This record gives sequence, C-alpha cells and structure tokens, in this order.
Amino acid sequence: MKGIGIDIVEVKRFHGVSNRFLKRVFTEEEIKYCRKSAAAELHFAARFAAKEAVIKATTDRKIAMKDICVKNRKNGAPEVFVRGRRQKFFISISHTKTLAVAVVVLY
Ligand SMILES: CC(C)(COP(=O)(O)OP(=O)(O)OC[C@H]1O[C@@H](n2cnc3c(N)ncnc32)[C@H](O)[C@@H]1OP(=O)(O)O)[C@@H](O)C(=O)NCCC(=O)NCCS
Repeated sequence: MKGIGIDIVEVKRFHGVSNRFLKRVFTEEEIKYCRKSAAAELHFAARFAAKEAVIKATTDRKIAMKDICVKNRKNGAPEVFVRGRRQKFFISISHTKTLAVAVVVLY
C-alpha cells in the first residue's frame, strides 16, 4: 500500500449545479451514470469525494479533477482511474441523503 485518502462531501452542494460546473469536474461517463438516478446529486457528491480522496492518496495536487474517473462494474462496485497514469487504486463509496464519503487506497 502506497497511500490512502478519504473525503466527505455534503450532498446539498450538488443540488442544482450548472452544467458548466459539472462538465468542468466530471467526465461524460460520470455525468451519464449520475443522471440515470433520480437522486443524481448523491452520485455527483460521491464522485467529488472520490476525486478528492485520490488526490489525498497520491499527494499530487496537480491532478485535474476531470482526469480522475469513477466507473462502476456490472455489479455496481466502483473503480477509479487517473488518465495518463498507471497507478492502481482501490475505492469504496457510501452515501446517505445528506453526506457522501469515499475512501481510496493507492497500491
Ligand atoms: C452493494 C451494497 C453493499 C451497497 O450498500 P448500500 O448501503 O445500498 O449503498 P451505499 O450508499 O453505502 O453505497 C452506495 C455505493 O456503493 C457502491 N457499490 C454498489 N454496489 C457495490 C458492490 N457490489 N460492491 C462494492 N461497492 C458497491 C457504489 O459505489 C455506490 O455508489 P454509486 O452508485 O454512487 O457509485 C448493498 O446494496 C448490498 O448488496 N448489500 C448486500 C447485503 C444485502 O443484500 N443486504 C440486504 C438484505 S436485507
């Protein structure tokens, strides 16, 4: 294990955010996944937490948010990738109506 990061985000930060903001922070694939849900803001908040957790795990503050992409396997389990890097991560996500949390391990 080379690093660990955790982040917690208030879901209300993602109520009614602009498309412009979403497109600056999230990949097209992430936006599509979140918008499939009636409570898209939960999923956006969780992905935001995941991106912050990746930055903490790597201690590299130069990684752009949009270069970090959360994908979900067929069974729903999340995975995270950083564009242009071969680093591998473990990730876990959880959310309630008000809070989203993500933990990331760099290995
Ligand atoms: C997968 C499972 C653990 C998710 O738990 P949950 O409390 O519903 O969901 P949380 O809010 O804590 O977490 C949601 C996140 O879990 C992650 N997740 C979903 N399926 C997953 C899986 N198979 N493995 C790991 N993580 C998973 C996703 O990242 C999801 O967030 P996202 O959709 O925004 O990416 C749960 O649905 C499950 O299958 N539990 C098995 C036990 C069970 O069936 N209990 C009910 C019996 S009464």
